[in-house]
Amino acid sequence: MRIIKTIEELRPIVKGWRKEGLSVGLVPTMGYLHEGHKSLIVKAVSENNRVVVSDFVNPTQFGVNEDLASYPRDIERDAAVCEAAGADLIFHPEPEEMYFTDNCTFVDMDKLTKGLCGKTRPTHFRGVCSVVTKLFHIVTPDRAYFGQKDAQQLAVIRRMVRDLNFDIEIVGCPIVREADGLAMSSRNTYLNEEERQAALVLHKSLLLGKEMIVQGEQDAGEIKAAIVRSIETEPLARADYVEIVDPDSLETIDIIEGRALIALAVYVGKTRLIDNIL
Ligand code: PAF
Repeated sequence: MRIIKTIEELRPIVKGWRKEGLSVGLVPTMGYLHEGHKSLIVKAVSENNRVVVSDFVNPTQFGVNEDLASYPRDIERDAAVCEAAGADLIFHPEPEEMYFTDNCTFVDMDKLTKGLCGKTRPTHFRGVCSVVTKLFHIVTPDRAYFGQKDAQQLAVIRRMVRDLNFDIEIVGCPIVREADGLAMSSRNTYLNEEERQAALVLHKSLLLGKEMIVQGEQDAGEIKAAIVRSIETEPLARADYVEIVDPDSLETIDIIEGRALIALAVYVGKTRLIDNIL
Protein backbone atom coordinates (compact mmCIF):
# COMPACT_ATOMS: atom_id res chain seq x y z
CA MET A 1 0.00 0.00 0.00
CA ARG A 2 1.31 3.42 -0.97
CA ILE A 3 0.88 6.86 0.57
CA ILE A 4 0.61 9.48 -2.16
CA LYS A 5 0.79 13.18 -1.38
CA THR A 6 0.24 14.87 -4.74
CA ILE A 7 -2.50 14.94 -7.37
CA GLU A 8 0.16 14.65 -10.08
CA GLU A 9 1.33 11.30 -8.67
CA LEU A 10 -2.15 9.97 -8.00
CA ARG A 11 -3.77 10.56 -11.40
CA PRO A 12 -1.55 8.25 -13.52
CA ILE A 13 -1.97 5.45 -10.98
CA VAL A 14 -5.77 5.62 -11.20
CA LYS A 15 -5.59 5.97 -15.01
CA GLY A 16 -3.45 2.81 -15.10
CA TRP A 17 -6.07 0.93 -13.07
CA ARG A 18 -8.79 2.17 -15.41
CA LYS A 19 -6.82 0.99 -18.47
CA GLU A 20 -6.76 -2.48 -16.92
CA GLY A 21 -10.56 -2.30 -16.53
CA LEU A 22 -10.39 -2.21 -12.73
CA SER A 23 -13.11 -0.55 -10.62
CA VAL A 24 -12.13 2.06 -8.05
CA GLY A 25 -13.67 2.78 -4.64
CA LEU A 26 -12.98 5.92 -2.62
CA VAL A 27 -13.30 6.28 1.15
CA PRO A 28 -13.00 9.99 2.00
CA THR A 29 -11.78 10.56 5.58
CA MET A 30 -10.13 13.20 7.72
CA GLY A 31 -7.86 10.54 9.22
CA TYR A 32 -7.41 9.39 12.81
CA LEU A 33 -9.15 6.27 11.64
CA HIS A 34 -11.28 4.10 13.92
CA GLU A 35 -13.39 0.96 13.48
CA GLY A 36 -16.13 3.00 11.79
CA HIS A 37 -13.72 4.09 9.04
CA LYS A 38 -12.33 0.57 8.86
CA SER A 39 -15.81 -0.80 8.16
CA LEU A 40 -16.12 1.63 5.22
CA ILE A 41 -12.75 0.53 3.83
CA VAL A 42 -13.57 -3.18 4.25
CA LYS A 43 -16.87 -2.67 2.39
CA ALA A 44 -15.12 -0.69 -0.35
CA VAL A 45 -12.52 -3.46 -0.72
CA SER A 46 -15.28 -6.07 -1.05
CA GLU A 47 -17.00 -4.10 -3.84
CA ASN A 48 -14.10 -2.67 -5.89
CA ASN A 49 -10.87 -3.88 -7.48
CA ARG A 50 -8.88 -0.97 -6.07
CA VAL A 51 -9.55 1.25 -3.04
CA VAL A 52 -8.23 4.74 -2.32
CA VAL A 53 -8.59 6.21 1.18
CA SER A 54 -8.23 9.97 1.31
CA ASP A 55 -6.77 11.21 4.59
CA PHE A 56 -7.06 14.99 4.71
CA VAL A 57 -8.17 17.33 7.48
CA ASN A 58 -10.10 19.72 5.26
CA PRO A 59 -9.69 23.31 6.51
CA THR A 60 -12.67 24.72 4.60
CA GLN A 61 -15.21 22.69 6.56
CA PHE A 62 -14.11 24.09 9.93
CA GLY A 63 -15.61 27.31 11.25
CA VAL A 64 -13.33 30.05 12.66
CA ASN A 65 -13.72 28.96 16.28
CA GLU A 66 -13.69 25.23 15.62
CA ASP A 67 -11.07 22.55 16.22
CA LEU A 68 -9.03 22.61 12.97
CA ALA A 69 -5.69 23.01 14.77
CA SER A 70 -6.40 20.45 17.47
CA TYR A 71 -8.14 17.87 15.24
CA PRO A 72 -6.29 14.59 15.91
CA ARG A 73 -3.84 13.42 13.25
CA ASP A 74 -1.73 10.25 13.03
CA ILE A 75 -0.85 9.14 9.51
CA GLU A 76 1.29 6.18 10.63
CA ARG A 77 -1.53 4.69 12.63
CA ASP A 78 -3.94 5.43 9.75
CA ALA A 79 -1.64 3.64 7.32
CA ALA A 80 -1.69 0.53 9.51
CA VAL A 81 -5.53 0.60 9.63
CA CYS A 82 -5.78 1.03 5.83
CA GLU A 83 -3.26 -1.72 5.17
CA ALA A 84 -5.07 -4.15 7.49
CA ALA A 85 -8.41 -3.33 5.85
CA GLY A 86 -6.98 -4.01 2.38
CA ALA A 87 -6.81 -0.49 0.89
CA ASP A 88 -4.44 0.01 -2.06
CA LEU A 89 -3.51 3.64 -1.60
CA ILE A 90 -3.79 6.53 0.82
CA PHE A 91 -4.11 10.00 -0.66
CA HIS A 92 -2.67 12.30 2.01
CA PRO A 93 -2.23 15.80 0.56
CA GLU A 94 -1.11 18.96 2.34
CA PRO A 95 -3.68 21.79 2.39
CA GLU A 96 -1.56 23.68 -0.21
CA GLU A 97 -1.94 20.73 -2.58
CA MET A 98 -5.74 20.86 -2.33
CA TYR A 99 -6.31 24.62 -2.26
CA PHE A 100 -4.67 27.42 -4.21
CA THR A 101 -3.92 30.47 -2.05
CA ASP A 102 -6.39 32.44 -4.20
CA ASN A 103 -8.96 29.61 -4.38
CA CYS A 104 -12.36 31.20 -4.97
CA THR A 105 -14.55 28.39 -6.29
CA PHE A 106 -16.77 26.45 -3.90
CA VAL A 107 -19.66 24.02 -4.17
CA ASP A 108 -22.62 25.02 -2.06
CA MET A 109 -26.18 23.86 -1.59
CA ASP A 110 -29.53 25.34 -0.56
CA LYS A 111 -32.01 23.70 1.75
CA LEU A 112 -30.39 20.48 3.04
CA THR A 113 -27.46 22.34 4.57
CA LYS A 114 -29.44 24.98 6.45
CA GLY A 115 -30.94 22.91 9.29
CA LEU A 116 -29.48 20.43 11.81
CA CYS A 117 -25.69 20.93 11.98
CA GLY A 118 -25.95 23.74 9.41
CA LYS A 119 -27.54 25.98 12.05
CA THR A 120 -24.47 26.07 14.27
CA ARG A 121 -22.00 25.33 11.46
CA PRO A 122 -23.22 27.59 8.62
CA THR A 123 -20.15 27.14 6.37
CA HIS A 124 -19.45 23.48 7.15
CA PHE A 125 -21.27 21.83 4.25
CA ARG A 126 -19.88 24.27 1.72
CA GLY A 127 -16.45 23.00 2.77
CA VAL A 128 -17.56 19.37 2.69
CA CYS A 129 -19.22 19.65 -0.75
CA SER A 130 -16.19 21.49 -2.14
CA VAL A 131 -13.58 19.02 -0.89
CA VAL A 132 -15.64 15.96 -1.82
CA THR A 133 -16.15 17.38 -5.33
CA LYS A 134 -12.40 17.90 -5.61
CA LEU A 135 -11.70 14.37 -4.37
CA PHE A 136 -14.22 12.98 -6.87
CA HIS A 137 -12.46 14.82 -9.70
CA ILE A 138 -9.00 13.77 -8.52
CA VAL A 139 -9.73 10.08 -7.80
CA THR A 140 -12.61 9.55 -10.30
CA PRO A 141 -14.05 6.63 -8.30
CA ASP A 142 -16.90 4.35 -9.36
CA ARG A 143 -18.18 4.28 -5.78
CA ALA A 144 -17.63 6.41 -2.68
CA TYR A 145 -18.32 5.34 0.89
CA PHE A 146 -19.74 7.49 3.70
CA GLY A 147 -20.94 6.65 7.21
CA GLN A 148 -24.56 7.01 8.31
CA LYS A 149 -23.16 8.54 11.51
CA ASP A 150 -22.93 11.82 9.57
CA ALA A 151 -26.50 11.43 8.31
CA GLN A 152 -26.82 15.02 7.11
CA GLN A 153 -23.51 14.81 5.27
CA LEU A 154 -24.63 11.59 3.58
CA ALA A 155 -27.94 13.16 2.45
CA VAL A 156 -26.10 16.28 1.24
CA ILE A 157 -23.54 14.26 -0.76
CA ARG A 158 -26.28 12.10 -2.31
CA ARG A 159 -28.14 15.25 -3.35
CA MET A 160 -24.99 16.90 -4.70
CA VAL A 161 -24.14 13.81 -6.77
CA ARG A 162 -27.68 13.77 -8.16
CA ASP A 163 -27.88 17.50 -8.85
CA LEU A 164 -24.40 17.77 -10.42
CA ASN A 165 -24.64 14.48 -12.39
CA PHE A 166 -21.58 12.81 -10.90
CA ASP A 167 -21.34 9.27 -12.30
CA ILE A 168 -20.49 7.89 -8.86
CA GLU A 169 -22.47 5.51 -6.67
CA ILE A 170 -22.72 6.76 -3.09
CA VAL A 171 -22.71 3.91 -0.59
CA GLY A 172 -23.99 4.70 2.91
CA CYS A 173 -22.68 2.42 5.66
CA PRO A 174 -24.14 1.73 9.13
CA ILE A 175 -22.97 3.51 12.29
CA VAL A 176 -20.33 1.56 14.20
CA ARG A 177 -20.70 1.81 17.97
CA GLU A 178 -18.53 1.03 20.97
CA ALA A 179 -19.79 -1.92 23.06
CA ASP A 180 -21.66 0.52 25.34
CA GLY A 181 -23.42 2.28 22.44
CA LEU A 182 -21.29 5.41 21.89
CA ALA A 183 -21.02 6.07 18.15
CA MET A 184 -17.40 5.92 17.03
CA SER A 185 -15.93 9.32 16.18
CA SER A 186 -12.44 10.77 15.99
CA ARG A 187 -13.71 13.53 18.32
CA ASN A 188 -14.37 10.97 21.10
CA THR A 189 -10.65 11.34 21.86
CA TYR A 190 -11.41 14.81 23.28
CA LEU A 191 -13.53 13.31 26.10
CA ASN A 192 -12.11 12.71 29.57
CA GLU A 193 -13.28 9.66 31.51
CA GLU A 194 -16.25 11.40 33.09
CA GLU A 195 -17.34 12.95 29.78
CA ARG A 196 -16.91 9.63 27.99
CA GLN A 197 -19.42 8.13 30.43
CA ALA A 198 -21.77 11.13 30.09
CA ALA A 199 -21.67 10.79 26.29
CA LEU A 200 -23.68 7.58 26.55
CA VAL A 201 -26.72 9.81 26.98
CA LEU A 202 -26.79 10.43 23.20
CA HIS A 203 -27.50 6.84 22.19
CA LYS A 204 -29.65 6.21 25.25
CA SER A 205 -31.88 9.17 24.35
CA LEU A 206 -32.11 8.10 20.69
CA LEU A 207 -33.20 4.63 21.78
CA LEU A 208 -35.85 6.22 23.98
CA GLY A 209 -37.18 8.16 20.98
CA LYS A 210 -37.16 5.06 18.81
CA GLU A 211 -39.02 3.09 21.47
CA MET A 212 -41.73 5.78 21.66
CA ILE A 213 -42.22 5.47 17.89
CA VAL A 214 -42.29 1.66 18.08
CA GLN A 215 -44.95 2.00 20.80
CA GLY A 216 -47.07 4.08 18.40
CA GLU A 217 -46.23 7.70 19.28
CA GLN A 218 -46.48 9.76 16.07
CA ASP A 219 -46.17 13.28 17.43
CA ALA A 220 -42.59 14.34 16.69
CA GLY A 221 -42.87 17.21 19.20
CA GLU A 222 -43.61 14.79 22.04
CA ILE A 223 -40.70 12.57 21.06
CA LYS A 224 -38.25 15.47 20.75
CA ALA A 225 -39.33 16.82 24.14
CA ALA A 226 -38.77 13.41 25.75
CA ILE A 227 -35.31 13.17 24.16
CA VAL A 228 -34.35 16.66 25.38
CA ARG A 229 -35.54 15.75 28.91
CA SER A 230 -33.44 12.58 28.75
CA ILE A 231 -30.34 14.58 27.70
CA GLU A 232 -30.96 17.05 30.51
CA THR A 233 -30.69 14.24 33.09
CA GLU A 234 -26.95 14.22 32.33
CA PRO A 235 -25.31 17.28 33.98
CA LEU A 236 -22.30 17.31 31.61
CA ALA A 237 -24.49 17.24 28.49
CA ARG A 238 -26.24 20.13 26.72
CA ALA A 239 -28.40 19.60 23.63
CA ASP A 240 -27.47 21.70 20.59
CA TYR A 241 -30.41 20.29 18.62
CA VAL A 242 -32.78 17.36 18.52
CA GLU A 243 -34.68 17.02 15.24
CA ILE A 244 -36.89 14.49 13.52
CA VAL A 245 -36.58 14.77 9.76
CA ASP A 246 -37.12 12.97 6.48
CA PRO A 247 -33.86 11.04 5.92
CA ASP A 248 -33.53 12.14 2.27
CA SER A 249 -34.88 15.70 2.11
CA LEU A 250 -33.99 16.46 5.77
CA GLU A 251 -37.29 18.34 6.02
CA THR A 252 -38.84 18.48 9.48
CA ILE A 253 -41.48 15.87 10.21
CA ASP A 254 -44.33 16.80 12.56
CA ILE A 255 -46.33 13.57 12.41
CA ILE A 256 -44.39 10.35 11.92
CA GLU A 257 -46.04 8.15 9.30
CA GLY A 258 -43.11 6.60 7.44
CA ARG A 259 -39.32 6.63 7.55
CA ALA A 260 -37.93 9.15 9.98
CA LEU A 261 -34.46 10.16 11.10
CA ILE A 262 -33.95 11.30 14.68
CA ALA A 263 -30.76 13.36 14.64
CA LEU A 264 -29.10 15.18 17.49
CA ALA A 265 -26.03 17.14 18.41
CA VAL A 266 -25.03 17.39 22.05
CA TYR A 267 -22.20 19.21 23.79
CA VAL A 268 -20.52 16.96 26.34
CA GLY A 269 -18.23 19.32 28.19
CA LYS A 270 -16.72 21.35 25.33
CA THR A 271 -16.97 18.54 22.78
CA ARG A 272 -19.85 18.59 20.31
CA LEU A 273 -20.97 15.07 19.40
CA ILE A 274 -23.57 13.99 16.86
CA ASP A 275 -25.58 10.79 16.56
CA ASN A 276 -28.77 9.61 14.92
CA ILE A 277 -31.12 6.72 14.47
CA LEU A 278 -33.39 5.76 11.58
O1 PAF B 1 -16.74 12.80 7.09
C1 PAF B 1 -15.60 13.31 7.01
O2 PAF B 1 -14.63 12.83 7.60
C2 PAF B 1 -15.40 14.55 6.15
O3 PAF B 1 -16.46 15.42 6.27
C3 PAF B 1 -15.11 14.22 4.67
C4 PAF B 1 -16.31 13.58 3.99
C5 PAF B 1 -13.90 13.32 4.57
C6 PAF B 1 -14.80 15.52 3.91
O4 PAF B 1 -13.69 16.16 4.43
